[in-house]
Amino acid sequence: MPVAIEINDLRKTYKGALVPALDGLSLSVKKNQIVGLLGPNGAGKTTSINVLCGLVLPDTGTAAIHGKDCIRSTFFIKKILGVVPQQIALFSNLTAWENFYYIGRLYGIKDNKIKERSGYLLERLGLEKHADKRVGRYSGGMKRRANIIASLLHQPEVVILDEPTAGVDVQSRAMILDFLQEYRQQDKTILYTSHLLEEAEQLCDEVVIIDEGKFIVSGSPKTLIEETPECRRLEDVFLHYTGHSVRD
Ligand SMILES: Nc1ncnc2c1ncn2[C@@H]1O[C@H](COP(=O)(O)OP(=O)(O)O)[C@@H](O)[C@H]1O
Ligand SMILES: [Mg+2]
Repeated sequence: MPVAIEINDLRKTYKGALVPALDGLSLSVKKNQIVGLLGPNGAGKTTSINVLCGLVLPDTGTAAIHGKDCIRSTFFIKKILGVVPQQIALFSNLTAWENFYYIGRLYGIKDNKIKERSGYLLERLGLEKHADKRVGRYSGGMKRRANIIASLLHQPEVVILDEPTAGVDVQSRAMILDFLQEYRQQDKTILYTSHLLEEAEQLCDEVVIIDEGKFIVSGSPKTLIEETPECRRLEDVFLHYTGHSVRD
């Protein structure tokens, strides 16, 4: 199966940090799959995502999407990659429409296309009635759905989401997961991080477990559960590999 994301021996130690955030991390994500990037707090998930979207420069190692280097080919990467950050990246003083026009224009999308695309996504993610409200007045779940729309206006081939379901209500979560599955059906690749292992077990074609900046194990949830001794759920597999000590 062709590869969408390839990370090879990434190393990154933040300025002043005692331990590396990424310590020789390698992983790959096949095209047209939903892959869960899992790991305890501080494992390096957000740092890896930031390398992929060009926000963090690694000390050494490579990261590529659809064969193009994430650091050198920024123009290409911007076109094919959509990133949904953990923090809401919208202007709270603007309405959803205003946000989408602003962001869409930054991507060079024509206004009529922005309208068509946002209109579809607003409806699909249950926000059509709220599109003229200021985002600052949205609930947490609504903000998160709007945040997802903003990253998909340019119809990226690869979408990376950092904790898209953290702290959202049950209905929003179900809608987001259902939508991600539908998006994947359109020949797209999705990499997402989550703390909710039951969710990842149900949703993901594959999961990649990392810890302390290193690759630990990957595979389909079903295979990992079968192949790890005394494991009945993905959570058991996760604890088997990452241990029981609490991370800060
Ligand atoms: N901007 C930063 N400056 C210094 N250290 C950081 C910074 N961002 C993350 N770290 C550290 O790097 C490690 C990996 O963090 P992160 O990639 O955010 O992990 P995760 O997303 O898996 O929780 C942690 O030890 C964290 O404290
Ligand atoms: Mg994180």
